[in-house]
Amino acid sequence: MTAAPLVFTRAVPPAPEYAGLDLLATAVLVLDRDGRIRYANQAAEVLLDMSRRHLVGQPAPRLFSDEHQFERLALSASAGDASQVHHVAELRRPLREPVAVQVLVSAIEGDGGGLLLEMLAIEEQLRVNREDRQLGLSEANRLLLRNLAHEIRNPLGGIRGAAQLLERELAHGEQREFTRVIIAEADRLQSLVDRLLAPHRAPRVVAEFSVHEICERVRAVILAEFPQGLEIVRDYDASMPSGRGDKEQLIQALLNVVRNAAQALGERRATGSAQIVLRTRVARHVHIARRHVRLAAEIAVIDNGPGVREDLKDRIFFPLVSGRDDGTGLGLTLAQAFVLANDGNIEFDSKPGRTTFRILLPLA
Ligand SMILES: Nc1ncnc2c1ncn2[C@@H]1O[C@H](COP(=O)(O)OP(=O)(O)OP(=O)(O)O)[C@@H](O)[C@H]1O
Ligand SMILES: [Mg+2]
Repeated sequence: MTAAPLVFTRAVPPAPEYAGLDLLATAVLVLDRDGRIRYANQAAEVLLDMSRRHLVGQPAPRLFSDEHQFERLALSASAGDASQVHHVAELRRPLREPVAVQVLVSAIEGDGGGLLLEMLAIEEQLRVNREDRQLGLSEANRLLLRNLAHEIRNPLGGIRGAAQLLERELAHGEQREFTRVIIAEADRLQSLVDRLLAPHRAPRVVAEFSVHEICERVRAVILAEFPQGLEIVRDYDASMPSGRGDKEQLIQALLNVVRNAAQALGERRATGSAQIVLRTRVARHVHIARRHVRLAAEIAVIDNGPGVREDLKDRIFFPLVSGRDDGTGLGLTLAQAFVLANDGNIEFDSKPGRTTFRILLPLA
């Protein structure tokens, strides 16, 4: 044992036993004493966009945009410096744009010495934090809504029934106008409450589903709803395997997202330039709700509309938040609830001219 703090000093087993590191979400590089890469886990391959075969043997400093920064980190890690906790660095990637990472460098004790690098893309870290917050909120939302909806539903039937009885008693046609307003509003509220309770009511039916069948169903419904001036482009990944989940829930979720896009495209529909792209991709080694998923389907809905209103961006998944005059603000709340129920995740990115809603669903 040395006097270095435990956190920065680890005994690393010989190469074949690193296999467990492939399960980690964090990119891990093991360097020899000369700073050459001895081992890279799968997350490192994904982060650097290079195969392990290419990585092994390379001098690690070359991966850093600032090689001196790496040397400083390495030096202080070897000295057991506690200030090494999570540094921000930029990595070069030969085939892609550079990526900002949080990096933790630790000295390896024994096994010939060397360094251990743990790296997580900052973008990924932010996404995980955002997802955590979103998950917590939606759970609280769902509970609140469900209870509220139940409380509203019971007296609502009574109000409507009483208004109907009253209507029969009323002599004048004008007075009946009032009871009609009560009945119509009670009906409107009833359908709102029914939508709120929908995710909790229907039993889940889990079976094999085809991502493209879901996309095609949604495409057909939306084109029937918006027959003029809207183009829905298919950009499908033909190698997409099938998944397991509740197909009807997923259709409803995607439908809500695509319908929003079509609604946001009102002006462009009028000039015939509205476009929605339905893009599917197989995604490997992604994180969904903090779980590492080997294989996932990514369904992106991209529209060329005006974008999500700035003041709504933080809240659009909240219930009853709407930017439309006739919106109830439940579409995305429900879409999120359905996607979560199928172990997936939904997020968006929006600027004028390009809004992308992305649904990730685990396939394996
Ligand atoms: N693709 C998009 N482009 C621009 N704004 C969007 C887009 N998708 C959603 N929004 C905004 O997010 C708001 C919330 O959407 P959500 O589907 O939850 O409710 P809604 O569409 O208003 O009502 P509902 O879906 O219940 O009829 C919308 O009103 C709209 O302002
Ligand atoms: Mg909607």
